[in-house]
Amino acid sequence: MGKGGVNGPNGEPRAERTAHLPIQKSAEIRSSFLEYFKSKGHTIVASSSLVPGNDPTLLFVNSGMVQFKDVFLGKEKRPYSRATTSQRSVRAGGKHNDLENVGYTARHHTFFEMLGNFSFGDYFKKEAIPFAWNLLTQVYKLPKDKLWVTVYHTDDEAYDIWAKDIGVPAERIVRIGDKPGGQKFQSDNFWQMADTGPCGPCSEIFYDHGPGVEGGPPGSPDADGDRYIEIWNLVFMQFNRDEKGVMHPLPKPSVDTGMGLERIAAVLQGVHSNYEIDLFQDLIKAAIRETGTGERASPSLNVIADHIRACSFLIVDGVIPGNEGRGYVLRRIIRRAIRHGYKLGQKQPFFHKLVADLDRAMGAAYPGTRP
Ligand code: ALA
Repeated sequence: MGKGGVNGPNGEPRAERTAHLPIQKSAEIRSSFLEYFKSKGHTIVASSSLVPGNDPTLLFVNSGMVQFKDVFLGKEKRPYSRATTSQRSVRAGGKHNDLENVGYTARHHTFFEMLGNFSFGDYFKKEAIPFAWNLLTQVYKLPKDKLWVTVYHTDDEAYDIWAKDIGVPAERIVRIGDKPGGQKFQSDNFWQMADTGPCGPCSEIFYDHGPGVEGGPPGSPDADGDRYIEIWNLVFMQFNRDEKGVMHPLPKPSVDTGMGLERIAAVLQGVHSNYEIDLFQDLIKAAIRETGTGERASPSLNVIADHIRACSFLIVDGVIPGNEGRGYVLRRIIRRAIRHGYKLGQKQPFFHKLVADLDRAMGAAYPGTRP
């Protein structure tokens, strides 16, 4: 329960609703993000498949930059040097293996959508930071005093841009160092796609969900709480890490950013849990309909709503349930969804019936996935 806060009907912490925010549907947030970056000279590029093309270092596409990996490395040329995407992403199996938490927490997912803007040797920190700040504060109209930022501890350049160009007060800019006992660059503010590949220091933007939710600001001992939530990660791509951990400078400094659509939608819709946003509520209603359950607050409904997204998009992208690799991860997710349907009393096949609802909720945003 949140300290001193008023909790919701099921005891869940309540986010503070910021009264003047225009409530925005997930679909509007997605398209306004892409349009904003288009107006700043970015090419809107379609999401890639969830299966990384020709990249054995990764089980699934886990962020927007994956389809541009070779562009960052200087091995591939594109007709644009600025891009923006809404990328379907999966973090399940392999390195990011928290499947058993999904459905029971406010923000764990197997499948999520990452909104991003990218510079391939075009702009760098001085432009990337104001782009993000202006979208959040001018377009989405988030109150500035609810936003906190972190920078990699030695990144004075990013610190100064936040402090001097943007005017964020020093008490809301936090320098994050390397993990105790870890190696150089093992930090929450140093991002890498996998054990090898493009990487660099990053600056994260956090939203303060208010004193009704427990947790401390980034960098503090209770930073793991749910009050201060990272909404956007701006990565300043500078290195290519090789198998031995050696950092080679990239041909040109670049930018890779990622904002979870589900998280920013929760902020803009004034709800605490990602599962309370419009997109998930539609899928949860479908799960209630197809399981016939009366337990409308059961976490099993979140599980089913999350898993129908991962399973449908993985299958569309050519993954087939199986005994190893990607197929085994998919099989585990399907089995878990069906088990939770069973728990809710549905003993007949039901999971596939949610695909039409998913298509209504998300099909238009990912036209290449439709039949
Ligand atoms: N690629 C970066 C991330 O996933 C933006 O956080």
